[in-house]
Amino acid sequence: MPGKIFVLNGPNLNLLGVREPTIYGNDSLDDIGRMLAKKAEELGVEIDMRQSNHEGHLVDWLHEAHFEGAKAVLLNAAAYSHTSIAILDAIKSIAVPVIEVHISDPTVREPFRHLSYVGMGAVATVQGLGARSYVHALEKAAAL
Ligand code: DQA
Repeated sequence: MPGKIFVLNGPNLNLLGVREPTIYGNDSLDDIGRMLAKKAEELGVEIDMRQSNHEGHLVDWLHEAHFEGAKAVLLNAAAYSHTSIAILDAIKSIAVPVIEVHISDPTVREPFRHLSYVGMGAVATVQGLGARSYVHALEKAAAL
């Protein structure tokens, strides 16, 4: 099988399903993981899904994706999308294409969410489709 697709999730996404359901819906991150596992099987790709509340873990995992020869990374860096130059630099440091993912559409929310450092390095962004943002992003990644 060609390189894995890493699915990296940032802070507070461990609370999906509980956290502001009117914005983020009722699916938990495990539910999303199950949807992605099913889609990955259909597409014939392998995924490796992780979550951390710590910025440096996301940086380390982006490096790991590179050294493992991953095919792509789906990255929902959550609030770090809007603040983290370290994550942008990591994306720019690796050869692996990164697809930015958001459940909500940050561009129609508070102004502080309109800037995305992740988006500056990503090859594509999928946002505003709820949990389906991940599924759509996986289809895009598989087609790269
Ligand atoms: C989010 C959007 C971000 O603005 C926010 O900080 C999150 C989740 C999303 O998936 O919609 O934590 O990345």
